[in-house]
Amino acid sequence: MDARPIGVFDSGLGGLTAVKELSRILPEENIVYFGDTGRVPYGSRSREILRKYTRQDINFLLSQNVKMILAACGTVSSTAPDILQSVGVPATGVIFPTAQAAASATRNGKIGIIGTTATIRSGSYRRELEKIDPALSVYEKDCPLFVPLVESGFVDDNDEITLLTAQRYLSGLRESGVDTLIMGCTHYPIISRIISKVMGGGVTLIDSGRETALWAARALRESGLLAEGGGERSFFVSDYVENFSQIAEIFLGCNILSDVQRIDIEKY
Ligand code: DGL
Repeated sequence: MDARPIGVFDSGLGGLTAVKELSRILPEENIVYFGDTGRVPYGSRSREILRKYTRQDINFLLSQNVKMILAACGTVSSTAPDILQSVGVPATGVIFPTAQAAASATRNGKIGIIGTTATIRSGSYRRELEKIDPALSVYEKDCPLFVPLVESGFVDDNDEITLLTAQRYLSGLRESGVDTLIMGCTHYPIISRIISKVMGGGVTLIDSGRETALWAARALRESGLLAEGGGERSFFVSDYVENFSQIAEIFLGCNILSDVQRIDIEKY
């Protein structure tokens, strides 16, 4: 048993897709979340900057005495996997668990990947899928506007701007006949119903935040590190608390305003 919290981080709201799943399957775990809302989006930034941000985000979580770190961010997972491997506590990014889930889900061997520009450019998901099964056909598309749309709260299922953006980005993938689509950026599941509307009901959407949470839960169980009787969640952000809380409330289905604090990430 280990009552220390699980640390989860992302550039903003996206990592909440992992938090939601962790809370559902392991309700007794304490969770510390950091959303780098003052520096979002990560997906259009250079490798050097992303690696600096990754180190700072991890240092902050380590200062909270976490027992495990989830980089619930496709962009960080793609550009700083080596940093994640040397943090002193078990840590994972989203690529491996998500690629495994997609390879198991596909029936026709055609998998689409959507993510930030940095993630798609890195080729991280493609490489992982090729390792699992070289016969898979992989189709990729970066969707850079999805993150600012989510962070701005354009997340309603009927939001016309988000729907139009999704149609523009996803039409090529739909035509390629993929039966499985990796939402390789953790922000995207927040608008999964819009993505599904565009791709069609026959396409299985893989939620990278959820798959990573499932992977982490298994790892904690296997190593005897689960908590008992906890269930507290604290959220930290690097900019306005209110903006984050409002959209988080829509996604998590509960008010978290009193559990959110602002920190200066440059100190870490
Ligand atoms: N949610 C993150 C990801 O999975 C970061 C998106 C961004 O800030 O551009 O890639």
